[in-house]
Amino acid sequence: MVSVKEVYEVGEIPPVGEVPPLMYAQLIRPERFGEPIKAFQVEKVETPAELKPREALVLVMAAGINYNNVWAARGVPVNVIKAREREGDMTGFHIGGSDASGIVYKVGSNVSNIKVGDQVVIHCGMWDEDSPFVKAGNDPMFDPSFKIWGYESNWGSFAQFTKVQAHQCLPKAPHLTWEEAAAPTLVGATAYRMLRAWPPHTVEKGDVVLVWGGSGGLGSMAIQIAKDFGATPVAVVSSEDKFDFCLKLGAKGCINRKEFEHWGMLPHWTDTEAFAKWSQGARAFGTKFWEVLGERRSPRIVFEHPGEDTIPTSIFMCDTGGMVVICAGTSGFNATVDLRYLWMRQKRLQGSHFANDEQAGAFNQLVLDGKIDPCLGETYSFEDIGKCHQLMYEGKQPLGVMAALVSAKRTGMREVE
Ligand SMILES: NC(=O)c1ccc[n+]([C@@H]2O[C@H](COP(=O)([O-])OP(=O)(O)OC[C@H]3O[C@@H](n4cnc5c(N)ncnc54)[C@H](OP(=O)(O)O)[C@@H]3O)[C@@H](O)[C@H]2O)c1
Repeated sequence: MVSVKEVYEVGEIPPVGEVPPLMYAQLIRPERFGEPIKAFQVEKVETPAELKPREALVLVMAAGINYNNVWAARGVPVNVIKAREREGDMTGFHIGGSDASGIVYKVGSNVSNIKVGDQVVIHCGMWDEDSPFVKAGNDPMFDPSFKIWGYESNWGSFAQFTKVQAHQCLPKAPHLTWEEAAAPTLVGATAYRMLRAWPPHTVEKGDVVLVWGGSGGLGSMAIQIAKDFGATPVAVVSSEDKFDFCLKLGAKGCINRKEFEHWGMLPHWTDTEAFAKWSQGARAFGTKFWEVLGERRSPRIVFEHPGEDTIPTSIFMCDTGGMVVICAGTSGFNATVDLRYLWMRQKRLQGSHFANDEQAGAFNQLVLDGKIDPCLGETYSFEDIGKCHQLMYEGKQPLGVMAALVSAKRTGMREVE
């Protein structure tokens, strides 16, 4: 379709299916790597309207904010632009954004799951659909081609249009506003795979689950998913003013981690004095856990992501035959494990990363069914996307998840006006 305008202002919505040649985007360039507030800048670029047969172009109504683009803005631990140059992408910039709600504006020649005009949310899992491993029906999360859209790939949601693989698009829940719908998919689908994809340790009715960072993105989703499956989540947070938030989502009780000091890597087992002090801290934490749970039961599943600071305690806390499932190392990557607990009590330490179509779809179904509060903390403007990442970088983000309006003119809209 021929466009009547070369570019639309942010907040202006082109007629459905009309793709202007240029668009506004929040760009990261290598020469600006550093603090997110400076790394992101609005620029006008060509709209990525050339689609492969199974790709789609989506007009972004709102974008969800995640920690991955704090890393992209800083250029560490990976320079995502250089990494893509090695694969032949010479655009020289990065358009981040791994969560979105929006409207399908164009589809490739071999797309059947969505059509122009559909209102969607986008999950961030991309892979080579022609890989023999994927075609054989294996979990694409284990394929070497797996990428996080809007972090490892370009053309994420911090722009008026985003280019995705059509299978990433899921129906938007009509009861949610654009900004609410944009908020929970990345963290929710990740939490869903962590809690439901590692049999026999799938969260079930009656399980006790320890959730680190209960008021954060992943934690707020984990509490709700565990609760929905009939489990009893207990949340850990860093201040009492976060208790109420977690309790309302379904936590049975909360622990303030600031009351304890045994965090970080384990002392060496030959340092008996330091090890005894660590054990005392871990046991006190365990006693607190039983107190807030209201019974002397250990968690069958420990929902991990802080990493270095908390892994020793997670392994200690996990029930005999239970699982510590981990998807990140926010506080560091050197996980120290007392192997005696691991083998004698036959515990499992399981890595997990985002989600496949089935798990992202199952999470989205919980959202469609109104069982998940998207936990939208604050909504920002398109221009403030750098500021949102700066807040995250400084640990000053609001409770829950942040979102930014892109083509939605104002907050509270569920349709196009
Ligand atoms: N692999 C994946 O697919 C995947 C997907 C999503 C996210 N992630 C990663 O997972 C991590 C968390 O993401 P998020 O979106 O939940 O971030 P978030 O909203 O910032 O929440 C993280 C929470 O962790 C807690 N925390 C931080 N440092 C801690 C420490 N030293 N000890 C214990 N708790 C600590 C904080 O809660 P309190 O201060 O209240 O305790 C914070 O609210 C990030 O590193 C992110 O990149 C990975």
